Amino acid sequence: MGCNIAIDGPAGAGKSTIAKKVAKKLSFIYVDTGAMYRAMALYLLNHGVNGDSQEEIETVCSGADVSIEYKDGEQIVLLNGENVNSMLRTEQVGNMASKSSANPKVREHLLKLQRTLAEKNDVVMDGRDIGTTILPNAEVKIYLTASADTRARRRALEYEQKGEPFDLDQIRKDIIERDERDMNRAVSPLKQADDAVLVDSSEMGIDDVVDAILDVYNKKL
Ligand code: C5P
Repeated sequence: MGCNIAIDGPAGAGKSTIAKKVAKKLSFIYVDTGAMYRAMALYLLNHGVNGDSQEEIETVCSGADVSIEYKDGEQIVLLNGENVNSMLRTEQVGNMASKSSANPKVREHLLKLQRTLAEKNDVVMDGRDIGTTILPNAEVKIYLTASADTRARRRALEYEQKGEPFDLDQIRKDIIERDERDMNRAVSPLKQADDAVLVDSSEMGIDDVVDAILDVYNKKL
């Protein structure tokens, strides 16, 4: 059994940036579970699914095989054997992922993959239900959040840096809608685990958040 650090929280709280840095400092593997849900969503979008019918999601998702490999320390998501990393971080895929991730069949498929990775390796795993459902015995659990405004601005900055067009109001609206869906679904809703440490990063820099998490980890040792 590896040593496991679970980081959950809403969209745009900075989970992946922070988790990656924590993993690097500790020489753990970083597991981005959102990317797995996004790969599943990409498959559904490519097959003409619009996300309104859970029945359709359930039928079509059985054709998707999501797996993970690591190259130079980076997580590569394979969708039916193809590296889809460059196609995952769009608002369209994110919004679809938020709809399709409410489906129990989709979650069941990815749960096994996530648990196996955590069993075999020391991991920093980020997502929505890692501390509550996937790794209830994780040594360290963090619930990382920030205000909706801060999160929307951070997402917008990501687009700006990539030179992609964006609409801040639309991003903010999507983030709030996505949180609502993630927090109110029946299966594995986003919520802080009872034994998770709450970190609000609204007024914190990246390195401060990384240090706060390393502090929690060191105190557990
Ligand atoms: O974190 P990211 O924005 O990449 O996640 C995309 C979507 O995948 C989330 O809005 C959420 O609905 C879903 N997700 C999930 N459980 C996880 C990780 C992501 O339901 N562990």
